[in-house]
Amino acid sequence: MIKPIIAANWKMNKTVSEAIDFVNRMKKFVLGINDREVVIAPPFPALYPVGAVLKDSGMSLAAQNLGAYKEGAYTGEISARMLVDVGCTHVIVGHSERRTLFGESNEIVNAKIGMALQFGMRPIVCIGETLQDREAGKTFDVIERQIKEGLNQVAVYDIGQTIIAYEPVWAIGTGKTATTGQAGEAHAFIRQLMEELYGKGPAGRLPILYGGSVNPENIGKLMAQPDINGALVGGASLDVETFGKIVTF
Ligand code: PGA
Repeated sequence: MIKPIIAANWKMNKTVSEAIDFVNRMKKFVLGINDREVVIAPPFPALYPVGAVLKDSGMSLAAQNLGAYKEGAYTGEISARMLVDVGCTHVIVGHSERRTLFGESNEIVNAKIGMALQFGMRPIVCIGETLQDREAGKTFDVIERQIKEGLNQVAVYDIGQTIIAYEPVWAIGTGKTATTGQAGEAHAFIRQLMEELYGKGPAGRLPILYGGSVNPENIGKLMAQPDINGALVGGASLDVETFGKIVTF
């Protein structure tokens, strides 16, 4: 059994005080909940103070991105070691917004996953096809390439630390959720590919999250799919009552 993971990706939203207020108010929703993991990914400036509030709350801290290099002359970058130092246990890697708006290739994603694992953080690796890919019948090709190239250096013993988030790009922030059939099919494909690459045991323990317009109304149905082990939530994670409903689905 894989423990479900519900992760909030705030993207470029919330100041430090707004972030602290959110996590303080979030505590009542996670109190006594042990059968799922809640992860909060605030923007960089809020990581340290939010991490302090999250201590012993049962929620985990994630960054939304990390540098591909260990340290040195990389102006504006933030290293894995710095993230661990402020309490991050998870880090989102290769979100489609990073891929499309900031030119992150599978090679860069691969280097970042390596950094995260090297420093003991669980990478939440985002993959997914665009509408154009889907309409051209290339969904599985794209996913396969993102996995093979993105996880290129991930050893079998690191798979236990890795999390995959399947996020069809056309479903992100659009209000268009993949149908449970579409999501279920993609998740089953990912699981099968991971079995081929890493073996049944490790692939069977890999959490595969769904992301793309998850909300309190659709979370139950999505989570009922056998290969969906959690959700990466953007827009609906910004309001504490709404995210609270998702977490307690
Ligand atoms: P959304 O974003 O829930 O607003 O669609 C999901 C994501 O980008 O991770």
